[in-house]
Amino acid sequence: MSTDAVTMDKIVSLSKRRGFVFPSSEIYGGLGSSYDYGHYGVLLKDNVKARWLEAMVRERDDIVALDSSIILHPKIWEASGHVSGFTDPLVDCRTCKKRFRADQLGESECGRKPSKHPGETPDCDLTEPRQFNLMFRTRVGAVEETGVDVYLRPETAQGIFVNFKNVAQLARRKPPFGIAQVGKAFRNEITPGNFIFRTLEFEMMELEYFVPPADSARWHEYWVAERLAWHVRYGVRDENLRARAHEADELSHYSSATSDIEYRYPMGWSELEGIANRGDFDLTQHTEASGTKLEWVDAGTGERFVPHVIEPSLGLNRSLLTFLIDAYDEEVVAERDRTVLRLHPRLAPVTTAVLPLITKDAAMVEKAQALRDELRRHLSVEYDDSGQIGRRYRRQDEIGTPWALTVDEQTLSDDTVTLRDRDTLAQERIPIGGALTALLERLAAPWSPPPRAG
Ligand code: GAP
Repeated sequence: MSTDAVTMDKIVSLSKRRGFVFPSSEIYGGLGSSYDYGHYGVLLKDNVKARWLEAMVRERDDIVALDSSIILHPKIWEASGHVSGFTDPLVDCRTCKKRFRADQLGESECGRKPSKHPGETPDCDLTEPRQFNLMFRTRVGAVEETGVDVYLRPETAQGIFVNFKNVAQLARRKPPFGIAQVGKAFRNEITPGNFIFRTLEFEMMELEYFVPPADSARWHEYWVAERLAWHVRYGVRDENLRARAHEADELSHYSSATSDIEYRYPMGWSELEGIANRGDFDLTQHTEASGTKLEWVDAGTGERFVPHVIEPSLGLNRSLLTFLIDAYDEEVVAERDRTVLRLHPRLAPVTTAVLPLITKDAAMVEKAQALRDELRRHLSVEYDDSGQIGRRYRRQDEIGTPWALTVDEQTLSDDTVTLRDRDTLAQERIPIGGALTALLERLAAPWSPPPRAG
């Protein structure tokens, strides 16, 4: 199917049907912009995170990992500029009592007439835009009256900046070097829908890369190219990605230059990942506010400077959504409809399915279960013995399982199994004892998505 035919409704429906992602608190009517992840959603999310950490930390010598707290000292958010500047312009409708983002009225639905946008009907009565802070506030302390107001972090980055001195000393590295972190962030977003594109809570995968000030423009370019290549490496089609530099009036309060990696979502080109040049804004702000100097000092020569920071920042959930959209395909095979997720094999929630052809045949079941037990020690495996084999293949296609191993009559006589490929539908006979090696070889091979029809 063509990219244009992949609608958000199809993604939402598959996600729910197969238990990737579903609305949160559903039995209570749901909570807008909150979603829960089911079995395959968790496995897919874990794989996206693992591939990010692999590329950003494990495959490099210049980046270390960190896991900082979600609730930080409230002064951090004053120094970072989030208390005063992390706001969205919102308008209220006095008629329907709904609240909208002033800059997204054209994408929002009127509270009374969803076919219209807010402000388009004679009944709409919108207020002037007002700035609302996006941070969730809560209180720390057992006693309400003596508690302290704190915030749920809206980005993981500040946890990195305030740990700069600790980590730089322990890592014993001279800039350029980076600190990477994956963790939850929270924003009180007013959103016009689009499934998990923008949610109240989400996971961020952020790198703060500290560089000598004179080199910051060069490193900014480097990280834009590097991050674009990561999305392509894991299967996002080139033609659906682009890098776009922010105009001056779009820049965040901390940024001197930002390029977004944008993806062609069903609702149009939108931000997938942001790559900002934060300059020395954060380290300088925290130095001034805390009294602790956040700078790099060469113990040998005494050379010192405040590094500039390049920050690639990607939403894990938004990345997962992008992989789902780009992988989604429908086709007709042997006069039957097939929905398939052509996920990169190293992202797919299940690497291989193990299927006994005749589920009442005790010998076949025994062989298949032994194979499952062997493979399971190394790979994500699903054993499925329910329903006709065609149905079982279709189920695996829908969750993106790249390979299926079928144990049949012939297995019982010659110890071979059928290896079915999700994308080509080719079936190959391989020795059961060589199945693990065959799968590991395929998993290690470079992979790119088959071209889309249309
Ligand atoms: N520290 C930089 C920062 O916070 P951002 O552009 O606001 O920058 C970075 O966010 C990335 O986080 C975005 O490109 C997007 O992938 C993701 N993101 C931001 N807000 C989100 C939300 N409400 N829901 C899901 N993902 C979000």
